[in-house]
Amino acid sequence: MLTTRVLRSLQYFCNYFEPHINSISFFCLVFFLFVYCCMPPFSQMFQKEVIESVMDITLSSAVEACADVETVPATVSVADLGCCSGPNTLFVVENVIRAVCERRREAVRQLPEFMVFLNDLPSNDFNTLFSLVPEFVQKLKAEHDGRIMVSVAGVPGSFYGRLFPSSSLHFMTSFTSLQWLSQVPAGLLNKGEPINKGNVYMSPASPPSVATRYFEQFQEDFNMFLRLRSQELVVGGRMVLSMLGRRSHDIHKKINEFPLFEALSKSLSISVSEKLVAEEKVASFNFPLYTPSTQELEDQVYREGSFTIDYMKQYYHDWMFENAPNMLSKTCRAATESLICHHFGEEIIEPLFKTHTRVLYERLVEGEDIGWCQITVALCKSAA
Ligand SMILES: C[S@@+](CC[C@H](N)C(=O)[O-])C[C@H]1O[C@@H](n2cnc3c(N)ncnc32)[C@H](O)[C@@H]1O
Repeated sequence: MLTTRVLRSLQYFCNYFEPHINSISFFCLVFFLFVYCCMPPFSQMFQKEVIESVMDITLSSAVEACADVETVPATVSVADLGCCSGPNTLFVVENVIRAVCERRREAVRQLPEFMVFLNDLPSNDFNTLFSLVPEFVQKLKAEHDGRIMVSVAGVPGSFYGRLFPSSSLHFMTSFTSLQWLSQVPAGLLNKGEPINKGNVYMSPASPPSVATRYFEQFQEDFNMFLRLRSQELVVGGRMVLSMLGRRSHDIHKKINEFPLFEALSKSLSISVSEKLVAEEKVASFNFPLYTPSTQELEDQVYREGSFTIDYMKQYYHDWMFENAPNMLSKTCRAATESLICHHFGEEIIEPLFKTHTRVLYERLVEGEDIGWCQITVALCKSAA
């Protein structure tokens, strides 16, 4: 894929610029193109950094989960939920497989066979993801002298429904996906009137009942998620879940916990004043997104009762560097574009995200924080 991208870009530049460039500038161009093509797309760079920040706990949890699979040759089943279509998901799985093999080699010499399930919504670009799989499998085979068996399957569907047979998985991960709720909370209308006007999710400017509705939806969804996964995991199986979160436990505290979305609310108001979009359309738009606190996650895990908490950590990514607004806006666009298009139409996207980048720049120049909090929790399925 990388090679195709390099070649296609080269071909494009050669066709258009050939008459104007000498050989030195041509080689500079090739060099910069190569560097560009080797970088992950902007929208995935932040996620990759998030994944790297929780890699240690992911690997130790995977090793714990798979150390007890004693049948020879054992099959180890792992799944990534909300895998998207980029290389991040395979980066995680690759490291998990390596860590499990290393531990197995120390213990029993025989390497396990791996069944890898990649889950996302049916609208996900599974074709792009699958095109990365042969190289991924080859690489692992080469590292283990061909003695390893890795099978990869896509599982389209919502993680708020059953995805796998009972007691069939040993280890699951989900990165930067579980903040998405199954739906926008019900009850955001009062006698037909939207009650969260001017905001796109629960924010400091929302009436208190908005935060309550979002919290109730989160409780319902997360409880369902834990219950379903507990049916699918073997006893002693583990999950590492990392999602956007809040630093403050109080949902009614008037602090701006998620500036990226605050900037999106502001950009939508600007679009109204520029007559790009109707005010009523903006007033009725809300994202199905909830950023829980560590305390809320802990409470839900205890209440559901199928898991014990091995580890929990809150991490703040401040992203305070010059080009951050541009890159963060691209990340935000990748994550929200389909929902925005669905509600407002495609035409709004370009101008909206141009404004969004500008708003984020203004915030950065004013010294405002434009980062977010990420919460990671490692869970172990307890005996019934
Ligand atoms: C920000 S991306 C994270 C991608 C990847 N895990 C990473 O860390 O690079 C969030 C992903 O969650 C997926 N997602 C959201 N809700 C989902 C659901 N209910 N079931 C499965 N996937 C979901 C989205 O389609 C999207 O691909």
